[in-house]
Amino acid sequence: MTENSYDYRIVRGFVVSALFWLIIGLIVGLWIAFEMFNPSLNLTPWLSFGRLRVVHTNGLGLGFGLAGIFAATYYILQKLTRTPIVFPRLARFHLYLFNVIIALAAVSLFAGMSTTKEYAELEWPLDIAVVVMWVIFAVNVFASLIKRREKQMYVSLWYIIAMTVTIAVLYIVNNLEVPVNLFKSYSLYAGVNDANVQWWYGHNIVGFIFTVPILAMFYYFLPVSSGLPLYSHRLSIISFWSLIFAYLWTGAHHLMLTPVPEWIQTVAIAFSIFLIAPSWGSVVNGYYTLQGNWDKMRSNYLIKFFILGITFYGLQTIQGPTQGLRTLNAFFHYTDWVIGHVHMGTMGWVTMTISASFYYMIPKISGRPLHSIRIANVHFWLILVGQLLWTVTMWIGGIQQGAMWKATDPDGSLTYNFLDSIASLYPYYQIRFAAGVVYFAGILLFAWNIFMTIRKSDT
Ligand code: HEM
Ligand code: HEM
Repeated sequence: MTENSYDYRIVRGFVVSALFWLIIGLIVGLWIAFEMFNPSLNLTPWLSFGRLRVVHTNGLGLGFGLAGIFAATYYILQKLTRTPIVFPRLARFHLYLFNVIIALAAVSLFAGMSTTKEYAELEWPLDIAVVVMWVIFAVNVFASLIKRREKQMYVSLWYIIAMTVTIAVLYIVNNLEVPVNLFKSYSLYAGVNDANVQWWYGHNIVGFIFTVPILAMFYYFLPVSSGLPLYSHRLSIISFWSLIFAYLWTGAHHLMLTPVPEWIQTVAIAFSIFLIAPSWGSVVNGYYTLQGNWDKMRSNYLIKFFILGITFYGLQTIQGPTQGLRTLNAFFHYTDWVIGHVHMGTMGWVTMTISASFYYMIPKISGRPLHSIRIANVHFWLILVGQLLWTVTMWIGGIQQGAMWKATDPDGSLTYNFLDSIASLYPYYQIRFAAGVVYFAGILLFAWNIFMTIRKSDT
């Protein structure tokens, strides 16, 4: 199989889409971060925090995250199966449909059309379009696997299969709804059942977008870009199966101390703690792959993205199970501590791994070296510093917030009212905004670097 027989246009298309939605999603993120300490900026419903927050989460989770995942999947699939995309026209249609869906999603959320279920806010016509798009994608994934010339199934392929199957099941089950008109529907489930299904979905949609396919990228791109074999295939497969087995039981850790039956909460806590093992199986595998070659952190600009990325994943997967424990969750739930948790994962682990994967793929498929390694290095430091400042500030703010909510006077009354706690967080929100600007500057350099590399290859 020669390089020329592979179809990389689709990979390039998704890379460009990912960068576009990343920039849009971050501009909205910066705006809502600014609104947090300038509430008067909620000028119209269209610019209100409530509407824009979902544009931010959907734009980045579904727009940037999924486009990055599709780009990497179409690349990895072809390489690991040694088979060109089986239905290239379908893949191209997938690219167009994806962008139309995300654009309509952004506009409809801006306009206030929302089911109000987190990460499942899209109204029913768009849900149907999402399912159609996913089927189109799955057809190519499974066709490649069936026709593959390489018998061995490397672990990244298992992660891709898990994502493809699980997201379909999650999305369909949680989005079963009764339409009232074209723009409004109500969930098929009610009360506690609705909450339980929603958070089974919510947790796993995060897991099967922000963890599973990102691990597929990590396992593929770390060895190929470092030139070092993976430390242990056996460990990678054990980690894979135990991660997949445990993940789906943990959704109720988002519903601690609620009317959801206590045993369901306890099962979720137990499996959340169990998850540390498979998560760290991948972290350790990554670290050991570099054994004796740690100088590559300096000599190969891609390696530091991957290693810092997996380190944030490692920290995230210790913080997650800990904050799911009942006593700690009673303190941290609803506070900015959780917002810090989210962004260490998204701005650290997810963005760093996707960045390095793009930096690896684009020069390969363009047949040109990266426009500037120096810019890539500056990008790395800006997103690292921006993310660390962002998340650490939110953790500290979150602790203060939780403590203020729970503080009582000797007569048992609350010491602070809710607004006191919000106003006391303004300095943290200002630092978070500044950190976001630093991070955003890094992302602009990233987009510029990729754009220039693609442009050079076109001329
Ligand atoms: C072992 C792995 C993990 C466990 C057990 C875990 C646990 C948790 C818990 C208990 C919460 C809810 C906190 C609360 O609202 O009180 C949470 C929230 C969240 N986590 Fe994790 N986490 C893990 C890894 C990750 C990773 C790798 C990401 C990737 C970015 C992530 C993204 C999120 C997001 C987006 C939320 C917010 C959900 C919402 O909208 O309420 N988590 N996590
Ligand atoms: C400049 C960088 C960023 C800024 C300024 C920013 C800002 C924000 C703000 C202000 C919130 C709402 C917090 C709240 O409700 O109190 C938020 C939530 C969220 N952001 Fe970001 N964000 C950034 C980067 C990202 C990235 C890169 C991703 C994903 C790839 C992301 C995904 C999310 C998610 C999933 C939530 C919901 C968290 C939850 O419900 O617990 N953000 N962001």
